[in-house]
Amino acid sequence: MTESPRTALPSLHSPPGDRLEIVTAWNADTPYQAWRPQILVPPTFRPGLAPRVFAVVNQKGGAGKTTSAVELAAAWAAAGYRVRVIDADHQEAALSVWLVPQYPDEGPRHSLRSVFMDECTLAEATYPTRFAGVDVVPSGLDLVRVEYERPIGAERALAAALEEEAEGGTPPYDVTLIDGAPSLGLVTVAALAASDEVLVPIKVGGLDMHGMRSLHRTIRSVQRKVNAKLRVGAVLLTAWDKSDFARQLAAKVSEDYPDAAVIPIRRSVRAAEAPIAEEPVRAYAPKSTAAGDYDQAARVILPGRTAA
Ligand SMILES: Nc1ncnc2c1ncn2[C@@H]1O[C@H](COP(=O)(O)OP(=O)(O)OP(=O)(O)O)[C@@H](O)[C@H]1O
Ligand SMILES: [Mg+2]
Repeated sequence: MTESPRTALPSLHSPPGDRLEIVTAWNADTPYQAWRPQILVPPTFRPGLAPRVFAVVNQKGGAGKTTSAVELAAAWAAAGYRVRVIDADHQEAALSVWLVPQYPDEGPRHSLRSVFMDECTLAEATYPTRFAGVDVVPSGLDLVRVEYERPIGAERALAAALEEEAEGGTPPYDVTLIDGAPSLGLVTVAALAASDEVLVPIKVGGLDMHGMRSLHRTIRSVQRKVNAKLRVGAVLLTAWDKSDFARQLAAKVSEDYPDAAVIPIRRSVRAAEAPIAEEPVRAYAPKSTAAGDYDQAARVILPGRTAA
């Protein structure tokens, strides 16, 4: 393939009126009419510092994991960070179809599965995308084989691959985002084992309380047995619409994850269109609420180098 220039992801200059207010506590007594979506940043929240590895996880399908991984990647790349997105989902119409990897003309095409099978390093399985500052480790249907072939040390395979890379000196990426599958299987556990932080997208209206408890248990188990540093950094309430249910949901997740930021990402048709255009929403519709809300989410979770 001939090298094509990479598209720079834009900085957003939306008027302050479009921005969500950031608060340290919610006022539950606000009358419904006057109530606006707000970003909750509790006093115990600690913003991340690069280099940082994030797992975007929720075993519920269609929660907004892939959208969140792509948009946060785009926002951090626009802020000047070197970003890698790892597709940890075997579904065909997922991240690797949205952020199309730019494979070289010749040579093998590696994927995340090759890393689990010790066939290549993480660096060898990383490819540029069309967007400046964003690289991708693709996956395909064969990733599901990791679940039943269970290669040696699979739970720690991703953590070990990242550690090996870091041993070489400066880590090649400031941010690594792992887009999880809608399951709590081996690959998801490996993603949690390799991460500093979990980001949990929950689609407003698609909440599954039973599923939330399983996710909570899985995160706790990984913390206890494999990765003590793991913490839940943020809950993203995706496709957010003003409703009493959205308010109740926000209150519930802030009880479950008291140290996490709780961030609404408003419903936007642009978010649904962008994957078809094979562009992050940030490039496809930079003025949309989804692009703006993810930009704010990115600044809260991992502030830019120059941000106050
Ligand atoms: N803010 C939003 N507004 C409107 N639609 C959205 C928003 N965020 C995500 N969506 C849409 O919701 C659907 C599911 O999102 P996404 O694919 O990101 O979820 P997922 O958790 O990765 O799903 P899966 O579990 O299948 O991997 C997609 O069609 C996406 O475009
Ligand atoms: Mg997905």
